[in-house]
Parts: sequence; structure tokens; C-alpha cells
Amino acid sequence: MSVSRGGFSSRMGFILAAAGSAVGLGNIWGFPTQTASNGGAAFVLVYLVLAFSLAYPAFMAELLIGRYGQANAVSSMQKMSRNLGQKRFAFLVGFGGIICASLILSFYGILAGWMMSFAIEPVTQLLGLTDTATWLTTQSMSRDLLFTSLFMMLTIAIIRRGVEQGIEKWSKRLMPMLIGLLILLIIYVFTLDGSKEGFKAYLNPDISRVFEPNLLISALGQAFFSLSLGTSVMIIYGSYISKKENLVTLGAQVTLIDVSIAFLAGLLIIPSMYVAQSQGVAIFADDGSLISGPNLVFDVLPSLFNGMGAIGLFVGFGFFILMSIAALTSSISMLEGPVSFAVERHNLERKNATTLIGLGILALSTLIIFNFTTLFGMVISISTVYGQPLIAMLCCIFVGWIWHRSAVLTEIKEGNDTVEHSIFWKIWPWYTKFVCPSAIAIVFWHSL
Ligand code: TRP
Repeated sequence: MSVSRGGFSSRMGFILAAAGSAVGLGNIWGFPTQTASNGGAAFVLVYLVLAFSLAYPAFMAELLIGRYGQANAVSSMQKMSRNLGQKRFAFLVGFGGIICASLILSFYGILAGWMMSFAIEPVTQLLGLTDTATWLTTQSMSRDLLFTSLFMMLTIAIIRRGVEQGIEKWSKRLMPMLIGLLILLIIYVFTLDGSKEGFKAYLNPDISRVFEPNLLISALGQAFFSLSLGTSVMIIYGSYISKKENLVTLGAQVTLIDVSIAFLAGLLIIPSMYVAQSQGVAIFADDGSLISGPNLVFDVLPSLFNGMGAIGLFVGFGFFILMSIAALTSSISMLEGPVSFAVERHNLERKNATTLIGLGILALSTLIIFNFTTLFGMVISISTVYGQPLIAMLCCIFVGWIWHRSAVLTEIKEGNDTVEHSIFWKIWPWYTKFVCPSAIAIVFWHSL
């Protein structure tokens, strides 16, 4: 079995690492653009409700599995299984999550590479290297290969150092930087013409849209992606938490941070778009909806930064560094899933396992870069539209139907003596057993 396992050295270390995994491109890019294309504050409202009513309980299921099992996703779930059929099911769910995390990392690394090349571009501008600057912001295979590899190297370097010296230490450094940068940028954008209109568009709900099926599906998908559910990541992070900690509160704190940062990112992106509009940049697509997706981040916002003159170089640099940091604290969590599995189940040495698996995933990214039009969208759908909700649902089923109820309750009680008087205690066990899996299944079915 495992060599001595690492673990988070402090509560804060866990909160920042788990929030680091949760807060990523999904929050700063995905959430604001989904909000823009789904009726503004109506989406924010639905997202908040779903994040706490469905994503949080499923998140708790994964954390509890990990802390109980004190091992990678597969071993943890197999510890709860009582017969061969259940053990096979555990393998399917745990290993499925690990594959899902690897697939996500293979496309996430490409996106993160773009963020890094856009972050370096203002520096080359300052140095007068105009040709390099153009290369950095123009789509090409050479650029994508270089920056995806660079980003992967960073991810590998952190994971090679292990839980405490790698994940925890770097999350503690990067997360405060991320929050500081985000707040500075919001304050700056607030002083610019046009931003007030953006705030209004962001905060004014079109209540009639709240029950639209498409809006519900997008909001739930976004909440699951954002909490990194269904990918074994939260199981493995849960396994690194001490039994003395109160998991129920820790989970709620991480969810709250994740949701708050998504909300803050909306306060930055949507008003920025309206500022760009007041400078003559087109922010609405032909069908009248706000521009979202890659055009928003790589056209609209850079045009805005260009229009700001010299200060725009610094703002652009700050923005893309923010994006790169958010991506890095997420990508390390994705790599930890497969690495912990290889180390604990196959007795590989951690450093070797990390390099091997990291390079394997980089090879997959390279394949995607060479076949971009066919593979990029496909890998995203397989992993995030199908894989994540399905595996998250199976985790809830595992906790609700296979894990012995008294063992679940004992695990909840660890580090939390008074939990028996809380609503969590009364509601969560049956909620995870019945409500979560059915709700996820219904939404999943609709999305097909
Ligand atoms: N939650 C991250 C985001 O919002 C993405 C992410 C990090 C993730 N780790 C993950 C997604 C594991 C799925 C699985 O960008």
C-alpha cells in the first residue's frame, strides 16, 4: 500500500487549496459569460441556489469519501464496498473520475497556455518587440505547443513537491494574489466611463427567465465544473484533511469562496465589456446577445486594454496573470488525482509518477492542438458535459446506497461533536440518497 501519505498541515492550507481547485477559468471566464448570455442576474440567482442546494451536498459526499478512505479515489471507495460487485463499481466511479480529471487537464492546459501568452504580450510591447507581440496573440500551433508545455511544466513542478510543500504552499501564495488582483482590477474598472451601465446589466435580474430549462442546465453544469465535482479531485483533497477538522463547515466555506469569486469576476468582466463598448468596441454578437466565449477574452478585453494607452499594458498584464494563476491552482488539483492513484496503487515514486503522467497528459494536449477543430470541443463535452455530472451522481449513489449509514454518520461526526443538532445531520443523508442523484439525473437527461 501507500508509502507515508502527505496531508494538509493546516485548516487554512486545505481551504486555500480546495478553493484554488474550485476557483479557475470556470469562475473568471465561464461564470461571467454564462451570466451574460443567460439573462444577467437571473442566472446569478439560480446559480447561487443550485450551488448550495445541489453542488454543495455532492461536494460534501466526495470530501467525506476521501477523508474516510484516507486514500486515492479508487482505494477510498473500495474501502466502503462489501462485495466484489461493489468493489468493481467503486473502481468504475473512482477511475472514471481520474480519467475525467486527466481529460479536463488536457484541454485546460491549452486554455491556460493562451492566458500565459497574453500575459507576456504587454511585456514584449514595452520592450518594443512588436513581432513577438503579434505572434503571442495570434493563434498558431507553435505558440500553443510552447505555452501549453510551459504551463504543464509549472503544474508538474508543483505536484512533484507533494501535498504540503507543493499544493498547499503554492495555493497559499497564489490565492491571496488572485483575490488582490481581482479586487484591484474591479476598483479600476469602476472608475471608467460606461462601467455603471455594466453593473446594472449584471445586477438586474430578468426574473421571467429563472425557470427556463436551458438556464437551469447551464447553471448546474457551471456549479459542478466550478466545484471540480465528479473528477476524484475533491475525494483526494478530502483524504488529506485531518480527522480533527469539521468537514461540514470547511466544505461550506470553500463553496462560499468559490461562489463569491465567481460573483466578483462578474463584477469585473461585465462592466469591462460596457466600458469597451463606450470606447467603440462591439460587445454584442449579431443575434443581440453579449459576446462570450473566446472572443470575449481574446478580442473584446484586449481591445479595451489597447484603448487605455500605456496603462492598458499594465491592466492587461494584471488581468492575464490573474487568469494564469487561477488556472494553475486548478490544474495542480487535476494532476493530483491520477498521480495519487499511481503512487498508492502502483507503488510508483511520486516525482516519477508526476512527470510521467504530466507528460502523458501533455501528449494528449499536443494531439488536441494538432487536431484542434475535431478534438477540442469533443474532449470538453465528454469530460464536462457527460463525465462530470454522471460521476458526481454515482458518487452520491455510492454514499447513499452502498456506504453503511452508521459509518457515514460516524465520519460526519469526526471533528464535529455537536453536528447531531444541526440541519445538515438531519437532512444531508437522505438528501444525498434521493434528491441529489435524481435532480442530477433529471437535469442531465434534459441536457441530452
Ligand atoms: N473548478 C475549476 C474552474 O472553475 C476547474 C477545475 C479544477 C476542475 N479542477 C477540476 C474541473 C477538476 C473539473 C475537475 O475552472
